[in-house]
Amino acid sequence: MSFYQRLVVVIAFAALLLGVLTLFSYDIVKIDWISFMEIQPSFKAMENPLPVAARSIPIEGAAYIPGQGAPVNPVKSDPTSVERGRVLYSVTCIQCHGAKADGNGIIGGALVFQPANLTGDVVQNKPDGSLFLTISNGIQGTGGQIHMPALNENLTVRDRWDLVNYIRTLKAAAAPTPTPQP
Ligand code: HEC
Repeated sequence: MSFYQRLVVVIAFAALLLGVLTLFSYDIVKIDWISFMEIQPSFKAMENPLPVAARSIPIEGAAYIPGQGAPVNPVKSDPTSVERGRVLYSVTCIQCHGAKADGNGIIGGALVFQPANLTGDVVQNKPDGSLFLTISNGIQGTGGQIHMPALNENLTVRDRWDLVNYIRTLKAAAAPTPTPQP
């Protein structure tokens, strides 16, 4: 074999090797390399998240314990809480329940179920915990249709109690002016 013939063989061999390696480097042939990041329980995008570990609790503490009745309002109704509630109301509730909270929001009329009048006795006579659960879980019709959406994923626990404290102030606003004493 002449020097040039040997050179051609060596180059051909090197090219073949490079070609085979390229197959792997461009993931044409995929190898699951062992890497430490992958040796752990993880889920890829769009996969269902792992279930919450047994006996774990949310960092804010349990909002309420199902089956134990309505929770008690832990947030004092001070001006800060009411103001936070007012702002949250104007972002999350006003479209349905209306600027006067009477259930006549701009999209309220388009709904099959008229949003509740939050100033009225029906709502105001319910305990704080009941309103909290309504905001958290929404209201579902018997056929599974949604009357009011569950807002627990949009609002923190504190947010929801602030809203309850705000709703309480609406009763006073809507109450008829007392007849002056003679
Ligand atoms: C998509 C529209 C919509 C939004 C947004 C909405 N609600 Fe409602 N809400 C309704 C409807 C409709 C009802 C009445 C459902 C029924 O009577 O079955 C209702 C009922 C209620 C009730 C009455 C529950 C009862 O027990 O009588 C409360 C309290 C309430 N909403 C509070 C809120 C608060 C606070 C927010 C904002 C955080 C909010 N809602 C956002 C549509 C909405």
